[in-house]
Amino acid sequence: MAVREILKMGDSRLLRKAEPVQKFGTRELDELIADMFDTMHDANGAGLAAPQIGVNLQIVIFGFKKTQRYPDATPVPETVLLNPVLTVLSDETEEDWEGCLSVPGLRGVVSRHAHLRYQGFDQFGHVIDREVDGFHARVVQHECDHLVGMLYPMRITDFSCFGYASVLFPDMDPNDDD
Ligand code: NI
Repeated sequence: MAVREILKMGDSRLLRKAEPVQKFGTRELDELIADMFDTMHDANGAGLAAPQIGVNLQIVIFGFKKTQRYPDATPVPETVLLNPVLTVLSDETEEDWEGCLSVPGLRGVVSRHAHLRYQGFDQFGHVIDREVDGFHARVVQHECDHLVGMLYPMRITDFSCFGYASVLFPDMDPNDDD
């Protein structure tokens, strides 16, 4: 297990469409996902997608009990999600601040679907099928965007709500401003 380098915005590998995982339950997959968790925890992140460490596969992980990055967020169960399919369940959208480990130091307000169903598999090939809302729905949309080469700044519509975390949220722990 190892902490991997997180690619930063500007790296063309973050703009690719990721390939579906074909084989579940392999040792390579286990090691990759362990590295993803090590990398996410090391960076105090709420989620991470495989393309962010240069692996062009449809794999995202997310989840936390409490995160300083998003102190008001309700807990999200630790989840490994492969080959995800998202279905929007209502027209309702919500705006909130987002950050990204590939866009260190910045935060922006992004509009996301409020209600969502996501389907896919865990690393063993077990089916995952959940209906979620709020921050959980936001995290899933953000991470799955990484699988189609989309970073959250591409979704910002009001650039007056985009800036440095240390300026926007001066009380934030500096360890969590990436
Ligand atoms: Ni991200």
